[in-house]
Amino acid sequence: MTTRFRVVTVPGDGVGPDVVDAARRVVDAAGAASTFSVEWTEILAGGAAIDVHGVAIRSDDLETAGAADAILLGAVGGPKWSDPNADVRPEQALFALRGDLELFANLRPVQVHPALVPSSPLRPELLEGVDLLIVRELTSGLYFGRPSEERRTEGGRMAVDTLQYTEGEIRRVVRLAFELAAGRRGRLASVDKANVLATSRLWRKVVDEERPNFPTVEASHQLVDSCAMLLVRQPAAFDVLVTENLFGDILSDEAAVLAGSLGMLPSASLGDRRTAHGRFGLYEPIHGSAPDIAGRDLANPIGTILSAAMLLRWSLGLDDAAIAIEAAVAAALDDGYRTRDLLRPGTAPDPADGFRHVGTSGMTDAVIERISIRSAAPTPVAAGPS
Ligand code: IPM
Ligand code: MG
Repeated sequence: MTTRFRVVTVPGDGVGPDVVDAARRVVDAAGAASTFSVEWTEILAGGAAIDVHGVAIRSDDLETAGAADAILLGAVGGPKWSDPNADVRPEQALFALRGDLELFANLRPVQVHPALVPSSPLRPELLEGVDLLIVRELTSGLYFGRPSEERRTEGGRMAVDTLQYTEGEIRRVVRLAFELAAGRRGRLASVDKANVLATSRLWRKVVDEERPNFPTVEASHQLVDSCAMLLVRQPAAFDVLVTENLFGDILSDEAAVLAGSLGMLPSASLGDRRTAHGRFGLYEPIHGSAPDIAGRDLANPIGTILSAAMLLRWSLGLDDAAIAIEAAVAAALDDGYRTRDLLRPGTAPDPADGFRHVGTSGMTDAVIERISIRSAAPTPVAAGPS
């Protein structure tokens, strides 16, 4: 019997449609090799929605997204809509999806595939054993604090943003991070700026209060500036990091350097809500819309393909299919398939370098050809994966 799931896609702008299409093809292929299928529903969001509807996302579309088993998003934004004075901006779609659907925890795993060690500008010995997970708070902090505005004063213009966190907002993401650390190597770094910010000092108190509930986890506090340095000096020392919204945004781009390219990294945004199959969530690569290469079959689809694997694992309870897709990506890299972003930084593409130079569709085909699923049975969702 085939199990049917409902996934809403939000291709968005720039390379978003390219990479979402790639990930859809991979999921459909995994479904065909197994016993599930996905009914895809596409909605407009970001600049694409501004052009058609005048808003970054319509409330009907938000509702459609919330009613699905999960959401797969490409990227939003681009120079066409980047007027700093505009009231309507593509990113508002992201914040509506994240905020209205209460997807408060953004998981950004960073692993280094051995074949991509030369793609990173860091020294190979630093990359050995890197396997970390950034848990970024996603629905509060500076991104959502009000007021956030520019004002005219007698002394000229001023602007204000608000950094605020409630105890409950901190606790729910910190607890999830502890749970995830308990299922991994048992180390949690809570990252803050407690020497300056009141929100960080509250964050520290909550982490300390939760610590006794997770006796197998060794939790430490780390200041964000020194954490930024350690992420490139000693990245293998990290297991799980948990941090507020803006720090998580910045640190995850930095951590992408370890993986060889921003194009490699997936993410899952989760809340507390469960569907019949798993935890409801939104999945997206961490890269942006890269408008310069949009529609040219150049974008690396792996970040989105791996996001789709996370979707299968967390929201659909299909761990075997997720593992099969991750293994297929690894095999394609082992077999030498490389999109442009994965070539050694600073060198011109060399046709004689022994790699198989491919674009978005070539990489997607290579992944699909390598999918083989161990067992077709969906895994139970009760405990949730680590
Ligand atoms: C990300 C992105 C977004 C963010 C932008 C596009 C608003 O950088 O998902 O990391 O800052 O959250
Ligand atoms: Mg970012």
